[in-house]
Amino acid sequence: MKYTRLGTSDLTVSRICMGCMGFGDAGQGQHAWTLDEAHSREIIRHGLEMGINFYDTAIAYQSGTSEQYVGRALRDFASRDKVVVATKFLPRTQDEIENGVTGQQHIERMINRSLQNLGMDYVDLYIYHMWDWQTPVEDILDGLNRVVQAGKARYIGISNCFAWQLARANAIADREGWARFISVQGHYNLIFREEEREMVPYCQEEGIALTPYSALAAGRLSRKPGETSERLEKDAYARFKYDATAQQDSLIIDRVAELADRRGVTMTEIALAWLLTKVASPVVGATKRHHVDGAAKAVDLELTEEEIAYLEAPYVPHPLAGVMAQNRPANAKEKHVWSVGNQKI
Ligand SMILES: NC(=O)c1ccc[n+]([C@@H]2O[C@H](COP(=O)([O-])OP(=O)(O)OC[C@H]3O[C@@H](n4cnc5c(N)ncnc54)[C@H](OP(=O)(O)O)[C@@H]3O)[C@@H](O)[C@H]2O)c1
Repeated sequence: MKYTRLGTSDLTVSRICMGCMGFGDAGQGQHAWTLDEAHSREIIRHGLEMGINFYDTAIAYQSGTSEQYVGRALRDFASRDKVVVATKFLPRTQDEIENGVTGQQHIERMINRSLQNLGMDYVDLYIYHMWDWQTPVEDILDGLNRVVQAGKARYIGISNCFAWQLARANAIADREGWARFISVQGHYNLIFREEEREMVPYCQEEGIALTPYSALAAGRLSRKPGETSERLEKDAYARFKYDATAQQDSLIIDRVAELADRRGVTMTEIALAWLLTKVASPVVGATKRHHVDGAAKAVDLELTEEEIAYLEAPYVPHPLAGVMAQNRPANAKEKHVWSVGNQKI
């Protein structure tokens, strides 16, 4: 495994971050395909064996049970100071808004619940999961700064935002002397490269770390078009993000397969090696031991300039999908894709 410094922070992270959305009670939350605790522990233990020290979870994942599984496993298998734990908080609920719960109070509640779920007294990175259009950014930043001041989070990061939102937020934080966002977790992979318009150059300019999610397009970049898996069948949320552009994307996926054959490696290694030329540490979802092995191997694969250009050539701009498609002023009654109650998508 190789390691890097996370942006301007003093956190040293593996070049692969283990995405923990696939861990948690399948009966409680958004996904029906998640691993139970015993199997989640096996994957986390194997990640540690392979040198992965960076773990990404969220309070939203399976109603906090991902945080619980991850926290118990990391406490059992690693020293707290040898792992970098990231979790995320959700926007204020409609109930909280109606009951006058401020952004600051909401964040304090969220971090306390996450720390309780994790069984930890701090997280290394506390991530603003998705833009909350109903809460002033000043309240969010003040709330996050209080969390950092209280020692409950070492650093703050952000996910699913536009570059202008991050630039504005960090300018406010700088003006007020508050903690600023040191990392961005955006949706970025070979078949979804909209981050390259503004976010990637902005982060390079500012020394902000990119830790993109769905680095393998939820498995689409790991297998030839037409091949399937349990997750590809069951993960309706990912289908919702990728199905509309599947035909165009297959041109790129074919090139990933072709290069993998030529180099004698897996498609996963090619797709991740490409992303590793652009970012600090992709967040990779793993629910099988071989997923962890494939991701770890990608760190050692060097692509040539010609190979990178060949992979990139067929890309055409994509409409925003998933959470980013909902990053706009909210009609208070509109249900967010992440808050559809117990409906599994
Ligand atoms: N911030 C956000 O809003 C957000 C949103 C989504 C995800 N995330 C984070 O990002 C993480 C990753 O997201 P993701 O699971 O959607 O995306 P992903 O990493 O693009 O896809 C994971 C899938 O890729 C396949 N895969 C992984 N390694 C493989 C290997 N070595 N060989 C073959 N196939 C392999 C597996 O598919 P099969 O199961 O089909 O084999 C696995 O389920 C999550 O766990 C979460 O931490 C964050």
